[in-house]
Amino acid sequence: MRPEVAARVNINEFNMLKMTKTAEQKTRGEWAVDSWQRYRVVQQPEYPDVEAYHSVLQKIHTFPPLVSIGEVEKLRAKIADASAGRAFVLQGGDCAERFIDCNEHMIANRLKILLQMSVILTYGIRMPIIKVGRIAGQYAKPRSKNNEHVNGLDIPSYRGDCVNSFEPDPLARVADPQRLLQSYYYSSMTLNYIRAMIDGGFADLHHPYHWNLHSIEQTKKWPAYRNVVDRILDAVNFMEAFGGTRPESLGKVDFYVSHEGLLLGYEEALTRKDPVSGRYYNLGAHTVWIGDRTRAIDGAHVEYFRGIANPVGIKVGPGCEADELLELLAVLNPKNEPGRIILITRFGINHVEQKLPQVVQAVQKAGFQVAWSCDPMHGNIISSNGNRKTRDFSDILTEFQHCFRIHKELESFLAGAHFELTGEDVTECIGGAVELKDDDLAKNYETYCDPRLNYAQSLEIAFLITQLFQENNA
Ligand code: PEP
Ligand code: CO
Repeated sequence: MRPEVAARVNINEFNMLKMTKTAEQKTRGEWAVDSWQRYRVVQQPEYPDVEAYHSVLQKIHTFPPLVSIGEVEKLRAKIADASAGRAFVLQGGDCAERFIDCNEHMIANRLKILLQMSVILTYGIRMPIIKVGRIAGQYAKPRSKNNEHVNGLDIPSYRGDCVNSFEPDPLARVADPQRLLQSYYYSSMTLNYIRAMIDGGFADLHHPYHWNLHSIEQTKKWPAYRNVVDRILDAVNFMEAFGGTRPESLGKVDFYVSHEGLLLGYEEALTRKDPVSGRYYNLGAHTVWIGDRTRAIDGAHVEYFRGIANPVGIKVGPGCEADELLELLAVLNPKNEPGRIILITRFGINHVEQKLPQVVQAVQKAGFQVAWSCDPMHGNIISSNGNRKTRDFSDILTEFQHCFRIHKELESFLAGAHFELTGEDVTECIGGAVELKDDDLAKNYETYCDPRLNYAQSLEIAFLITQLFQENNA
């Protein structure tokens, strides 16, 4: 299937390049790092102390970048591979990263679960897995309401640790610009430790049995999953014995970091010009994404994103029509460069079967090169009996299965998965082999925003995706 996909892209690329400029492109002037300020901006905090806000941004502007242009370009090349059906993007982490989780244990566990999932997926998908954490900067949250009702009080909504405190107190909820500085520090500490762990061989694949599988080992489904673990171990041993892979090379991986590019002042402060190419890069992360609430074609976020050279994600929810998406692609990737766009669909089980084929076909027809990823989390939020936000593991799996099938039927390629997950034993999503029930949610419900898959549920989803790919390649 894959060579035909590539051929189709080439022919259509030509059609696409012939496309006349959209009205939207024509009316846009020159891009500048601050040209977004001329556009309508949503989801930004209101800082009572505007002077302090500007002086914080100026300070961040003088700080060193968190990532390098070389790394960003490397990721871009890998995402180009994913668009062409030669690699798969695993993107995952917290919905809202928390400053208090910037410690040795929590960072190691988040890295560990993503690496373990990637080992399982490499086995099932038989392709390189591009590992991208929602980490080291995922501190800002878009909210549907400016205020929320907590303990009988109407207080400003929590907008992420880089804006205000989660504490349900009206004063603690006031937007504090010093938190932007803290975000930079926490991101750099987190990234520093991730880099150190990876350099030190933390990514060692040799010992899946050291993976701390107890929670999943107790379940009825374990024998099926154990089989995969055994096969992985066997494959690694074989490669080593065969001499084809030096043991130390198995311990080295590339790991990338990402966050939603929401607070444009902060993103601008970390945007730097490459003196060689003259291109601008957001060097606060390897890749940033535009949320479903901020992707308006005439909005400030799209204006900011169109000028940076990083690979960018676009969240595509049920409210996004195919025409709108094509306009977005024309503005964000006018030269149709491969590796530039990850389209992260998050329709939910009720809309995916109707909406996904429409957008896939429209993008195919226009000839845009994109990496399609499935976020089976954000369209599947439900309310628990105790009025907590939760997600049902089986809905998450079902949306992923639908995406996989629809792309296959349309001769497209599902090139990635995007999850909210954690390496801890939290009780936030119901279901899975661990059979978490509604009543269990109160036990360890930690998230500051959306419910995440816990450690066992994350491993399980990787096993199930592996099964899905294997059944379809058999
Ligand atoms: C998120 O990824 O946490 C998020 C808010 O997603 P979306 O923009 O898709 O709602
Ligand atoms: Co979320």
